[in-house]
Amino acid sequence: MIARVASVERHGVYIRMSVEAPEIARAAQPGQFAMLRVADTSSTDPLLRRPLSLHDRNASEVEFFFSVAGRGTDILAGKKPGDRLDVLGPLGRGFALDENMTGRTACCVGGGRGIAPLYFLARELKARGASVHILYGGRSAADVPLREKFEAAGYQTFVSTDDGSFGFHGLVTDLFEKQAAAERPDRLYACGPDAMMKTLAASAARLGIPAWFSLESVMGCGFGACWGCVHRILRDGTPEWVKVCEDGPVFAGPDIVWETGP
Ligand SMILES: Cc1cc2nc3c(=O)[nH]c(=O)nc-3n(C[C@H](O)[C@H](O)[C@H](O)COP(=O)(O)OP(=O)(O)OC[C@H]3O[C@@H](n4cnc5c(N)ncnc54)[C@H](O)[C@@H]3O)c2cc1C
Ligand code: FES
Repeated sequence: MIARVASVERHGVYIRMSVEAPEIARAAQPGQFAMLRVADTSSTDPLLRRPLSLHDRNASEVEFFFSVAGRGTDILAGKKPGDRLDVLGPLGRGFALDENMTGRTACCVGGGRGIAPLYFLARELKARGASVHILYGGRSAADVPLREKFEAAGYQTFVSTDDGSFGFHGLVTDLFEKQAAAERPDRLYACGPDAMMKTLAASAARLGIPAWFSLESVMGCGFGACWGCVHRILRDGTPEWVKVCEDGPVFAGPDIVWETGP
């Protein structure tokens, strides 16, 4: 649909963009994403849409939170309130959510831009009664701009930075181990670099915590037509190539065949 950019906020290298798209906002589930055409309406360059997670929604708007990775996100970052934007969504399968989470703790772990889908997720988990803990990892203090937003929304938020400039000094995976030793969460949800998620998946399996991970893949179409986004997933114990855009991007931890090294 053709949406209209409602607001654009810069947080260092990150951008928060709100877009008027009532139909997408109404249908959205946490963990789903949209494909954005970043070229001007008169141009076909770049041709392919870019995938972005749904960071938040209200009755009429959806919000994205992204960093500039290359040309497409750079063009997107230059959009202004009032600009028209072609947005396709919501797409994919989101996070598996129990209807009632009362008395349960959900731990949401985000690394860098991987924090994007976890705000919408945290809100839905809280609405289902969960006590939500946010573990937010970045390279430095400048890499965790959503910390205050999560704190203001009332979530217990723990930050780790690789350089120790804010919060726990070290990897967010080590922070997870430390937190889980003090209070084992009932559910784990994560999004971030593959190496981070692979380590978390191993921790969750060892601790017996049901866990879901949102995978990233380079996407051509976003709805199952191009086979550009395949990943190996275990089906009944056998690895199969599935489409991240259609079968995911969220998968259960034990099913994921991690492609990163040891
Ligand atoms: C389901 C999904 C949800 C996403 N949600 C967000 C989000 O909420 N916020 C956000 O900042 N980013 C998100 N991304 C990543 C985002 O789509 C890419 O950063 C973006 O498409 C890069 O486009 P570009 O034209 O700016 O860069 P390009 O010029 O296309 O690429 C720049 C560099 O980034 C690499 N790259 C491109 N796409 C990906 C990818 N999907 N995964 C890993 N590396 C990639 C390229 O190999 C290249 O090295 C998501 C990706 C997926 C698949
Ligand atoms: S992106 Fe085209 S099939 Fe997944």
